[in-house]
Amino acid sequence: MTLPSARAIMVLGIETSCDETAAAIVRRDTEGRGEILSDIILSQVQDHAAFGGVVPEIAARAHVAALDGVIRAAMKSGTTWRDLDAIAVTAGPGLIGGLLVGTMTARALSAAKKIPLLPLNHLEGHALTARLTDRLAFPYLLLLVSGGHTQLVAVEGVGRYRRLGTTIDDALGEAFDKTAKLLGLPYPGGPNVERAAKTGDAKRFSLPRPLRDAPGCDFSFSGLKTALRITAEAHAPLSEQDVADLAASFQAAAVDVIENRTRAAFDIFLDAIEVSPTALVVAGGVAANEAVRARLTAVCADVKAPFVAPPARLCTDNAAMIAWAGAERLAANLLPDPDLPARARWPLDEAAAPLVGSGRRGARA
Ligand code: KG4
Ligand code: ZN
Repeated sequence: MTLPSARAIMVLGIETSCDETAAAIVRRDTEGRGEILSDIILSQVQDHAAFGGVVPEIAARAHVAALDGVIRAAMKSGTTWRDLDAIAVTAGPGLIGGLLVGTMTARALSAAKKIPLLPLNHLEGHALTARLTDRLAFPYLLLLVSGGHTQLVAVEGVGRYRRLGTTIDDALGEAFDKTAKLLGLPYPGGPNVERAAKTGDAKRFSLPRPLRDAPGCDFSFSGLKTALRITAEAHAPLSEQDVADLAASFQAAAVDVIENRTRAAFDIFLDAIEVSPTALVVAGGVAANEAVRARLTAVCADVKAPFVAPPARLCTDNAAMIAWAGAERLAANLLPDPDLPARARWPLDEAAAPLVGSGRRGARA
């Protein structure tokens, strides 16, 4: 195949790793500027709401039902199959059923249309989005806070990611969701905890700040979750004000931890990379939280680094980030093995040591 480094690149991206069925077409010009030609996201939130969380089997079936139509809609942008340089697809990490639906569909399209296939790491999509939205130069610090991941990553180049810290138990979004469930707030929990916290007193309950000031920049949220449960049980039945105060106290603890660990990551970044990061980038669903954004803005002002928060639609799961990561890889001539199978676990930084709870199948993402 001819490598299109000296001309514009067009990539179809496909994303099915969790509860969004998504397809998008992105163009990268020779100067490295990205343009989103189409960006279709079909959320399954309603399918899972009754269960208070994503049900893998329901997610996989919903991807099967929706993916063809979502890809067809993305192709309505005026792009023809012959215009495409590659099909980029999320091959992991994520729920294996959804990943199989996405990778099998992409593989079939690649064979039928004779277009190269790029099986990619979902986290690489999050890591490179700021270059699509803000043309950010390497190296930068990424804080990824979603329902499945909480990590601080030094993004040094395309394919060069150094995980500085990660959660040793729950992801922050998961902790928000579990807090919501415990307080009787509807799914998805994060936005509802944030809303309740607005009218609450964050000082009423004293909750722990796990791993604050610990060496490194790892996270832990399970102790905070347990402390919240014990406090809530001690005050049951909860009034509306109790719920608001508990939500505010939880969010305040989470934001303090985020600040502390991000500050630590800035120091570690300098030691590890030996240059200052060009910016702090935040991604993932929790990045929509205003308290989190406000605190990160303050940290960045303090350490004199720009704060980059891509628009919410591109912070949460989407296929434009996968198409863009494919375009970046094509431009850099760093092509993944097209036969790479779908993987539920796949750390972005393969060299990162597995942490507690990594299981026998290797490190969690
Ligand atoms: O990135 P995302 O859409 O999906 C993945 O997890 O991959 O993130 C969803 C997570 C959920 O846990 C949700 O509760 C959380 O992001 N979230 C929030 C807010 N909006 C979404 N957490 C706190 N505050 C929010 N405003
Ligand atoms: Zn994600």
